Amino acid sequence: MNKLHFYQQAFKEFRVAGVVLVGLLCVTHHVQAQNDQLKKLMLSNNCMACHLIDKRKYGPEFTEIASKYAANKSAVEILAAKIKSGGTGVWGEDVMPPQPQLSDADARTMAELILKLKPKD
Ligand code: HEC
Repeated sequence: MNKLHFYQQAFKEFRVAGVVLVGLLCVTHHVQAQNDQLKKLMLSNNCMACHLIDKRKYGPEFTEIASKYAANKSAVEILAAKIKSGGTGVWGEDVMPPQPQLSDADARTMAELILKLKPKD
């Protein structure tokens, strides 16, 4: 391989690595933005009193909820409704109180963001 060819090859490979790296950065940034949005909604709606994203508190942790509903096609509707009306019996005896202050749009956004969390292994 002559020198010019070597540099051309190296340039090609770095270009591929660059594209992969930029792609990874975008995905990471996107996930980070989603988690920030979810945390903001959790804080402003007092969900944090009972839930944490990845640790069990009074209610189930959100990553575990994501695992439980990963294969459920109606999960967004089910969770959005439950977030508003509360309930009990799915995760045990503890009761989640209704959240009437929450708009339907915010309940749905939260359900979608919870389901996008990386499920617990
Ligand atoms: C007073 C404590 C409390 C608060 C506040 C609370 N939750 Fe819950 N949440 C619970 C409990 C307890 C459960 C488990 C209910 C069950 O077993 O059916 C639960 C369950 C859930 C589930 C899973 C529902 C299911 O049927 O699998 C989601 C999603 C959820 N909460 C989201 C939220 C969001 C979003 C907020 C804020 C708007 C919130 N919760 C506020 C206690 C709470």
